[in-house]
Amino acid sequence: MEHLETLYKQALDELGAIGTSDMLDEWERRYIGRKGAVTLLLRQTGQLPPEQRAAFGKRANEIKRALEEAYTAHAELVREAELARSMEEGALDVTLPGRPVATGGLHPATQTLREIYAIWADMGFQVYRSPDIETDENNFTLLNIPPHHPARDLWDTFYTTTPGVILRTHTSPGQIRAMREFGDGGTKPIRVILPGMCYRYEQISARKEIQFNQVEGLAVGHNIRLTDLKGTITDFARRIFGDDRPVRFRGSYFPFTEPSMEVDVACGLCRGAGCQVCKYSGWLEIAGCGMVHPVVLQNGGYDPAVWSGFAFGMGPERVAMLKHGIEDIRYFWANDLRFLEQF
Ligand code: DAH
Repeated sequence: MEHLETLYKQALDELGAIGTSDMLDEWERRYIGRKGAVTLLLRQTGQLPPEQRAAFGKRANEIKRALEEAYTAHAELVREAELARSMEEGALDVTLPGRPVATGGLHPATQTLREIYAIWADMGFQVYRSPDIETDENNFTLLNIPPHHPARDLWDTFYTTTPGVILRTHTSPGQIRAMREFGDGGTKPIRVILPGMCYRYEQISARKEIQFNQVEGLAVGHNIRLTDLKGTITDFARRIFGDDRPVRFRGSYFPFTEPSMEVDVACGLCRGAGCQVCKYSGWLEIAGCGMVHPVVLQNGGYDPAVWSGFAFGMGPERVAMLKHGIEDIRYFWANDLRFLEQF
């Protein structure tokens, strides 16, 4: 009986100090569960001398019931306290300022490409896409660069494991595709631009990358002359760089044009004084161009005795460098946010 009373007092004291449901469970197991101390004592009632049994059993039952009630009441307190605590912990302070969401932007090359498209669209040129993976035939042979022609050395090529299939070294093979697709057997005039990535097996430097965009242009029609080409390119340069930026045409050589020229724009980085990017010449080349070679017109399905055309291929990254004073073409594909975030 004495043991029972001590146990009762001890159980009540402990219960009063419990603050978590884990400890509550443990208490329940220890005192009033199936193997709890009070339960076990109650079960031993039968082993007492008969004259003590009734009084002990009665008191033990009272205590067990009292402990069960105390447990239920305390469990409720603990649950309420825990709920209050978790609400407090998970509380939102709606007055805190939000975290800023960084917005993405268009890549400077994409921005420049779009400006270029807009200018050519203004002059009636449609965008036509042709594939990055090309045949050797379109990239070279049909552009008047047959196998073993020394001019192939102008384009250091990435070959694939499939014979005759390469990564295009320039967008010019799109000329052949455009003429064949839209020329309707050499009966319709064409005005297209062909933008896209080109690939060259190059020594990478401040001016040269192994991948870069080009925007090819092609106009085929009647009585298209060199002066049309020069006027159109000059107009383009004025629109993209402003009226005050000098442009010059230099005689050059491309197998697919005759005559051929290169277009230089005054270097905006050094303002003509000479720097690494312009190779200390004060000029930066932005395009090659010329009158479409008769052989190329023929390969596109046109009769060169009746049709003529001009073509150009420009470098949008070079254009962006001039516009923004970017000193190194390698920034474009290095994915350095410190560079990209400036545009
Ligand atoms: N395809 C030439 C290159 O990548 C650039 C070029 C020159 C394109 C003259 C043309 C052109 O259309 O007429 O170097």
